Amino acid sequence: MQERLKELQAEAIQKVTQAVGLKELNDIRVAYLGKKGPITEVLRGMGKLSAEERPVMGALANEVREAISTKIEEKQSELEEAAVQAKLAAETIDVTLPGRPVKVGSHHPLTKIIEEIEDLFIGMGYEIAEGPEVEQDYYNFEALNLPKGHPARDMQDSFYITEEILLRTHTSPVQARTMEKHQGKGPIKIICPGKVYRRDNDDATHSHQFMQIEGLVVGENIRMSDLKGTLEVFAKKMFGADREIRLRPSFFPFTEPSVEMDISCKMCGGHGCSVCKHTGWIEILGAGMVHPNVLEMAGYDAKKYSGFAFGMGPERIAMLKYGIDDIRHFYTDDVRFLKQFAVEE
Ligand code: PHE
Repeated sequence: MQERLKELQAEAIQKVTQAVGLKELNDIRVAYLGKKGPITEVLRGMGKLSAEERPVMGALANEVREAISTKIEEKQSELEEAAVQAKLAAETIDVTLPGRPVKVGSHHPLTKIIEEIEDLFIGMGYEIAEGPEVEQDYYNFEALNLPKGHPARDMQDSFYITEEILLRTHTSPVQARTMEKHQGKGPIKIICPGKVYRRDNDDATHSHQFMQIEGLVVGENIRMSDLKGTLEVFAKKMFGADREIRLRPSFFPFTEPSVEMDISCKMCGGHGCSVCKHTGWIEILGAGMVHPNVLEMAGYDAKKYSGFAFGMGPERIAMLKYGIDDIRHFYTDDVRFLKQFAVEE
């Protein structure tokens, strides 16, 4: 029996030493040390032994078991270590490979134009004001001298939500709101950028949603010459010192007198071309002196206070400044278009 146990030990240890994988090692463990293995079988035969022999055999059997399982453990850690090394060798990272370039976004051209215009007016002492896009009929029209049924409401086709609520058709309601907040006192110097909505069919020059920047100055002794001077500074800073401006009479219910401002065409130097429709001038914005009714409705004494206002479309300004031929480019987010404005940053 002793012989048999020694044989088994030698046999098992040889197999373990030659084992090449963890699976194989485990099979050896089960085969030799498992309940159905030869060592257990040897132990089962111990009943036939004498009382003196039994403990000696038992001790030897345990020794053999011990020796085999120690060898198996050793081999197991050896194989595991080898597996880790093999994995490391297989997955080596080549740190000399160049990285994948990360694409960086840029400011939208409209955002850039609006910020440029804001900076320009902030430099002249203006503050930024904002108002809601979902607006009351009162602020969008009535407080701007456009009572219900006024024909000039047709100039701005509107998206109504209820009889009294609509998507604002211009940023002028921010004028009315700001004056109301100031409770009849001056001075006010604000510009308000924001989105506006009109029921237009989208094409190269129209969009049902676009942006406006409104300007409002209210104070004592504000005159038409202040408006003209302000617009002239704006136009020259925005489009170049060589540009001329001209004011043409126009009509808005909330300004009196009302004007439209043109700048001289850069393409043809004023001689006439397709960009300026052969007039030498390009229309930029609407403006005028705040109508006394508008001042009074907002709580101002129109004998003491006066003001001017203007409203422009940043899309149109960006189109002229950068030679963009279709307003829809601003809203379709084509990176080939957007990328062209990233270079300046
Ligand atoms: N609100 C006018 C428009 O949308 C523009 C404007 C603003 C005209 C302020 C005069 C004064 O057409």
